[in-house]
Amino acid sequence: MTDKYAVIGNPVSHSKSPLIHKMFAEQTGQDISYEKIESPLDGFADTTAQLRGDGYKGCNVTVPFKFEAFQLCKQLTGRARAAQAVNTLRFENGEILGDNTDGAGLIADIEQNLGCKLLFKKVLLMGAGGAAHGVIWQLFNAGASIVIVNRTLDKAQLMASEFTSYGTVFASSYEGLAGKQFDVVVNATSSSLSNKLAPLPKGVFAPGSLAYDMMYGKQTPFIKFAREQGAAIASDGLGMLVEQAAEAFYKWRGVRPDTAPVLAKLRLQ
Ligand code: ATR
Repeated sequence: MTDKYAVIGNPVSHSKSPLIHKMFAEQTGQDISYEKIESPLDGFADTTAQLRGDGYKGCNVTVPFKFEAFQLCKQLTGRARAAQAVNTLRFENGEILGDNTDGAGLIADIEQNLGCKLLFKKVLLMGAGGAAHGVIWQLFNAGASIVIVNRTLDKAQLMASEFTSYGTVFASSYEGLAGKQFDVVVNATSSSLSNKLAPLPKGVFAPGSLAYDMMYGKQTPFIKFAREQGAAIASDGLGMLVEQAAEAFYKWRGVRPDTAPVLAKLRLQ
């Protein structure tokens, strides 16, 4: 019997997740279906309850429901607890297990696909919202030291204080970055969504550095700026999207798909 999965979001029509999971299923011979479900903004818990009632085995959760999904779960993985956000639900024996595969997806793309090991690297994490919270624990786990920069400095300071026990972390304003250089700069702001660039000073990219935009789209203003400023590698977040999906697929099915051909196909679209 085909096992049913879905991604819940609002809006969700743009989601590439069904296509990615279809490719994973074909590649691994897993008998699953995967669809997009747009939940009313005030109806996430009901939508989830309905899926469980209809026998779905799990779902992915995207904007704006990741925090609500976190609150819904009694059982959480450590990385979901650290992120205070959930992007993967598994329905099992009447329970909901919440996980967050975004950080693992980012690390896999940076380290395996882009070949940049994070151990002892100085990372600038831009943004202090949900997306930044979703990945910071895994950045520490990979051995990076982190500066969180945010337009609203208070939020960066609060976030840094939440994570001091995990590793070396400081907060900064954008002006405070003048004269500083980083090995890896991760854009976890939503600025690329509105085609804007956060006010990064020139010179933040160390020689040989990697610039990573968690949004996907080849020419975001951040990627353009990073290239102009001499970053050695500037990547969008398409690889992270595929890798976080692979991690969710593994969580559900116990089989790890090969992400390279899937990413290559998406790049051609
Ligand atoms: P998400 O869940 O995508 O992280 P969010 O929680 O609303 O969304 O957080 C958005 C983040 O992007 C915030 O860190 C925000 O900065 P502020 O806290 O100062 O608002 C950041 N952001 C959005 N647009 C930005 C811009 N044009 N320049 C710099 N930072 C921006």
